[in-house]
Amino acid sequence: MIYSIYAINYNSMKYYLVTFGCQMNKYTSGKVESLLNKLGYTITTQEKEADLILVNTCSVRDSAEERAIGRIRTLAGLKRQNPNLKIGVIGCMAVRLRNSLFELIPRIDFSLGPNETENLPALIEKGSDPLPAIFSGLKEFVAISTGCDNFCSYCIVPFVRGNLVVRQKEAILSEIKELAESGTKEITLLGQDVTSFRLNGTGFPELLSDVARISGIERIRFLTSHPKGVDDQLIDVVAENPKLCPHFHLPLQSGSDRVLRDMNRGYTFDYYFGLINKIRKAIPSSAITTDIIVGFPKEARSDFEATLKAIEMVRPDSSFCFAYSARPGTPAERLPEIDQKEKSERLKRMIELTKKIAGEKNSLLIDTRQDVLIEAKNPKDPKALMGRTITNKVCLFEGGEGLIGKTVPVHITSSSAYTLKGRLG
Ligand code: SAH
Ligand code: SF4
Ligand code: F3S
Repeated sequence: MIYSIYAINYNSMKYYLVTFGCQMNKYTSGKVESLLNKLGYTITTQEKEADLILVNTCSVRDSAEERAIGRIRTLAGLKRQNPNLKIGVIGCMAVRLRNSLFELIPRIDFSLGPNETENLPALIEKGSDPLPAIFSGLKEFVAISTGCDNFCSYCIVPFVRGNLVVRQKEAILSEIKELAESGTKEITLLGQDVTSFRLNGTGFPELLSDVARISGIERIRFLTSHPKGVDDQLIDVVAENPKLCPHFHLPLQSGSDRVLRDMNRGYTFDYYFGLINKIRKAIPSSAITTDIIVGFPKEARSDFEATLKAIEMVRPDSSFCFAYSARPGTPAERLPEIDQKEKSERLKRMIELTKKIAGEKNSLLIDTRQDVLIEAKNPKDPKALMGRTITNKVCLFEGGEGLIGKTVPVHITSSSAYTLKGRLG
């Protein structure tokens, strides 16, 4: 009840929150929002009227940091009109740059790493430390672990997010139950590598079965699965349980075994190809999506061609392609980089190929019926609705607003690399 006192005292304080980076950052931003709301702050979409600005940052590639720094600098300019404005940098870059962040952008007031958000009330000088409230939109994320112990040689995540820490199963299940009771229909279990979840003999497949028993939740997704950790048990549990969405995000990173070894990924392309064939045999309707890094240090033309060939064989439903970016302190940083121009050309070719394949895969769904959970109105067309198939493909079709939140059959009539279009029925 103490929260209402804060609500009265700080009702007028407004905050503006910007989020960069992965789903895990979006999840943390959700927690920060509920924490601030409980402290009596209200969120605003107008940066100019904010008393507090928080920027949740990502360090995964140099470009991600540059974007965040640019944005923070611009927002810090608002202090000229509003000297009482406080600016905090949260997330992974707050950890990676630590104190040098204050030299880089002197006008920021504080920084806080992703594992320290409970210290936010103290930093903004407001009251106690209430428990974060639960959000209950139609679809929500739930972290099952934080950090990562895989140490892929290019990756900054284990350094900024820390070692793998698995959440208690009871805490995960009760968070999901609470979400279900307040109307959430879809949840995505989040971890840098969900397959590494292990707790007193419970592995990830058992956790999935337990989550699937929670009534009210219609769809359960999970992100990201490291290919080396996907076993028959996980495939079986997804195949057998209709609530578990048959979508596997399995980052391949490279199709060259030599590069995969240098990346410390712990598998070969043959292993990966065997794995996706097993998944597709067990669950023919499943979707496989992937991440690719081009231009890893020492990547020869033949390595790159091996990745193109690998993509032609795997035929992912969609792919995120990145140009390698050296991250300070990672083992790969010490390896010789390839020519920048060559790297951009390879990225362009990889994007073209993966886009072409995504378009072809989506066109196979024309004239099929897909169950679509309707999320919202289509922002580009007020008469149309937007939802997703069980395989996480975006689907647009005409229909009334009253259908939002329902799962409906949609007949697919056309497609592109990124979306499906259809009609109800
Ligand atoms: N834990 C997740 C997410 C990691 S970051 C996973 O393992 O998939 C998301 C993607 O960013 C990675 O899969 C990788 O493809 C890419 N990535 C990570 N570090 C990178 C770097 N230094 N340069 C370029 N891309 C990188
Ligand atoms: Fe980074 Fe590898 Fe962990 Fe993913 S699995 S977060 S790429 S170290
Ligand atoms: Fe996510 Fe970027 Fe941090 S990808 S874990 S926000 S470095």
